[in-house]
Amino acid sequence: MSRALNNGSPLQFPSGFLWGTATSTTQIEGHIDNEWTGFIAYDGNHCGIACDSYHRYAEDIEWMCKLGVNSYRMGIEWSRLQPGPNAPLNGVELARYVDQLDRLNAAGILPMVVLHHFSNPPWINAIGGWTNPATVPLFVDYAAKLVMALRNHVRLWNTFNEPETYACCGFLIGEFPPRRKGRLDSFRAVVRNMAVAHERACRIIRDAGSSLGPVEAGFSKNWTHFEAYRKIAFWDSLVAGLTASQMNHFVLESFLDADGQSAATFLGVNYYGRIRFKNLKPLVPTFGFSHEELGRLGVQCDDMLERHPEGLESVLVDMQRKSGLPIYLTEHGSSSSDEVFRERDLRENLAAAHRAIGRGVDIRGFYYWSLMDNFEWQFGYSKKFGLLSVDFSDERRSRRMKPLAEMYRRVCLENSIGH
Ligand code: FCB
Repeated sequence: MSRALNNGSPLQFPSGFLWGTATSTTQIEGHIDNEWTGFIAYDGNHCGIACDSYHRYAEDIEWMCKLGVNSYRMGIEWSRLQPGPNAPLNGVELARYVDQLDRLNAAGILPMVVLHHFSNPPWINAIGGWTNPATVPLFVDYAAKLVMALRNHVRLWNTFNEPETYACCGFLIGEFPPRRKGRLDSFRAVVRNMAVAHERACRIIRDAGSSLGPVEAGFSKNWTHFEAYRKIAFWDSLVAGLTASQMNHFVLESFLDADGQSAATFLGVNYYGRIRFKNLKPLVPTFGFSHEELGRLGVQCDDMLERHPEGLESVLVDMQRKSGLPIYLTEHGSSSSDEVFRERDLRENLAAAHRAIGRGVDIRGFYYWSLMDNFEWQFGYSKKFGLLSVDFSDERRSRRMKPLAEMYRRVCLENSIGH
């Protein structure tokens, strides 16, 4: 495999490159009170205690040390910290996060903190969440308090995770709370409000600084390629083009548009692959197509969507050109019970990122989604993205390394792929 990558020699990444894993609060912490608490996923499960990382974060850090990562992209849960509008932060919950951050820093694992990852406190949802512009100053108040409280523990801040996924699943396809469908106006209002909040949060972060070193701030854009399966199919091309215009271009432009004066210092890119449309249906397993059917059409998927590593190179080149910012690959991963498939997927995507670096793209880090199997939103516990498996039948939620974790460990330790 390595020979195919670079005539037999390993692909070396730049020195100082961050190798990490990523998680989010709702997906791993458990014991949470937000819009996901009562949500029942397709597999019949609630998020419940999830991976119980709320209590087991110290053990998670030990696993990360075994993996050899030097960074961790983690969430901080707004609903735990603020009981109401403009309220002071909850000291007990804050202290727990401070302990987590201090343990990470002490272990040489640089935390990247995500401020918003698909969840809000109940009192924000009660006023209409991000469709309501009144949410913007409330979020900014929270962000300001949090950043001031954590400026000695964090220097890498990720404001919003995938505004497009959040807004699309909540307001266009009805798969996330509040399960609305076809509300393009709400989709666009959510994105616009988040973009304003992002800009203000970046300014706060920059002004606060960090005693750990230069602060960095940016949001994470999911980039999925939307294409027609047959280029000449008119309706499929139209659907793909419209989807891309809303999900990709509108969102990126909203977030980058600050009259060229944006306070963001980086752009986060989450990349999984491609969705192609055939007879107006997306060719993905989650739309009911079997892997055999998709395979016959030449569409190679994990349990979620089509793999398309070449597309990563072009996205990275394009994103840097559009934003002029350094890039962190804040998520990539695959969900499958076939670890050989997952290893190939990781190698091919890292090779694509490496080619982009060779073309001059300033990529500073890569975060594997995810550290461990977890609550995958509308799909519940049925999708397995972890480097670690989690035994959800065991109340201790015992974790174990999967074969892919061994491979990723070598990548992290050698700062290269190929051995
Ligand atoms: C991304 C989300 C993350 C996880 C992965 C599989 O879109 O940011 O929480 O669901 O997909």
